[in-house]
Amino acid sequence: MDDPAEDAKDRGGDGPAPPVGSVDGRTLPRVIAVANQKGGVGKTTTTINTAAALANMGHRTLLVDLDPQANASSGLGIDVRSLDTTLLDVLIDDLSLADCIQPTTTPNLWVAPSSLRLADAEMTLYGMLSRETRLRQAVNAVRSSYDYIFIDCPPSLGLLTLNGLCAAQEVMIPIQCEYFALEGVGQLLENILKIRRSGLNPELEVSTIVCVMYDARTRLADEVVREIRNHFGALVLRTVVPRSVRLSEAPQYGLTIHAFDPRSRGAVAYRDIAQEVHDGTATTAR
Ligand SMILES: Nc1ncnc2c1ncn2[C@@H]1O[C@H](COP(=O)(O)OP(=O)(O)OP(=O)(O)O)[C@@H](O)[C@H]1O
Ligand SMILES: [Mg+2]
Repeated sequence: MDDPAEDAKDRGGDGPAPPVGSVDGRTLPRVIAVANQKGGVGKTTTTINTAAALANMGHRTLLVDLDPQANASSGLGIDVRSLDTTLLDVLIDDLSLADCIQPTTTPNLWVAPSSLRLADAEMTLYGMLSRETRLRQAVNAVRSSYDYIFIDCPPSLGLLTLNGLCAAQEVMIPIQCEYFALEGVGQLLENILKIRRSGLNPELEVSTIVCVMYDARTRLADEVVREIRNHFGALVLRTVVPRSVRLSEAPQYGLTIHAFDPRSRGAVAYRDIAQEVHDGTATTAR
């Protein structure tokens, strides 16, 4: 990622560091980037299944797949090799986001699919005007049509993730209940503070930490959860996602866990997570 703090002085945003997150009531629509630059920690699984659970609760929900791996798109049953329009066209060619959004088999859940070529687009983006805020412009044009917009970020802190963090108001960070769980999280938090101070997105906050891949058979998992709660306090959801083979099987069938095995422990956990996320919405919300 370019260092947005470099621009901070020019923009007059060089004040003291505000706290990194809050759990205040929020109003809909909420735009939530799911980020952790560590790979394979459960970002996409969390994005798909939290978004789908909110959709099943009746909330109009959009999932923006910002990862060139396109796992969220394929996990929702989209054949990513046969798409005419993707997020690539939105970021590079000014296609409107509305023109690339597709319905999914889950009612109330839509997806803006990724393209495997999005990785090359990151290089092209570097040379473009307003390169950090291109996704924000696209999301702002459609946000009033949704209650929740989730952005599944790639495992890096590059320009694509920066676009995700500039388009969102909130960041949700999944953390694996494993050794080195917090590795890299400090760097992500540092980047979020830089984005705020630089003026690129002064409102950005970490709203949600979710502990995932919890293995009840190990003492380590409990220790890690305790450490995460000590570190992040009220930002950590009460619900912990168990390690469950069913969660890893569902995407192979292009299904969310709620469609694949609604009674499984993973499905129950993500329904509870969706409820906890929604409980953070102010009651005055539309
Ligand atoms: N709770 C879980 N129990 C078992 N397997 C899981 C769980 N959550 C995710 N997985 C599996 O772990 C792998 C990584 O998960 P996922 O793709 O969600 O992570 P990611 O952070 O999005 O990865 P990347 O950084 O590559 O985008 C996948 O094979 C997924 O099916
Ligand atoms: Mg992913």
